[in-house]
Amino acid sequence: MGALIIAVDGPAAAGKGTLSRRLATEYKLAHLDTGALYRATARDVLAAGVDPADAEAAAAIAAKLDPATLGDPALRTEAVGRVASIVSAHPAVRAALLEYQRNFAYHPPEGTIGAVLDGRDIGTVVCPQATVKLFVTASLEARSGRRLRELEAAGGPVDAAAVLADMQARDERDSKRSSSPLKPATDAVVLDTSGLDADEAFGAAVSIVRARIRSFSGSQA
Ligand code: C5P
Repeated sequence: MGALIIAVDGPAAAGKGTLSRRLATEYKLAHLDTGALYRATARDVLAAGVDPADAEAAAAIAAKLDPATLGDPALRTEAVGRVASIVSAHPAVRAALLEYQRNFAYHPPEGTIGAVLDGRDIGTVVCPQATVKLFVTASLEARSGRRLRELEAAGGPVDAAAVLADMQARDERDSKRSSSPLKPATDAVVLDTSGLDADEAFGAAVSIVRARIRSFSGSQA
């Protein structure tokens, strides 16, 4: 078996990030939050004063992205998230970020036997050959409730109706765009976390990964 690749896709605030980090620790895998690539592109687009609707200019910025800046706390703001969802709809931006993601998956950092990538199109476009594909989702209400609690915990001003409307708009843009729309791969296992806490979601994900690895090893024997 080559590199163990776990693809975790799904809408915003479904619990992908926490789940992916825990899976990476459990299976000694590297982790790439691919949303951070689009957010970093958005941050640099905003800093350069470029119009996010300008696909060519945004793609040129994406091509020059410095991966060392992916941990920048500024990526987490709502403003950057909103612009990320606009620039990520440009096929040229997606193309500029594709190689970095594939390279990370197939040549994970030393000391790891594979990688967990979370995003929107990992199982469908970035790593169609991933060992395991999870599509992590939750109801719009559950997801906006989680985002609201995160914002409250961060001490920011919170407008529940605006958070819900923003999430709805982002879902709409992610799933209706023509380039790599958000949708489960045909061979993905859907995990609905609406009624689950983080530990329960992790337990369910581990069961799915175990079953998949078992069936994969069986078919190779
Ligand atoms: O997951 P996160 O909210 O950080 O992603 C920011 C934005 O980047 C999303 O709204 C989505 O539009 C975009 N994205 C994407 N493809 C990915 C990851 C994120 O289009 N693989």
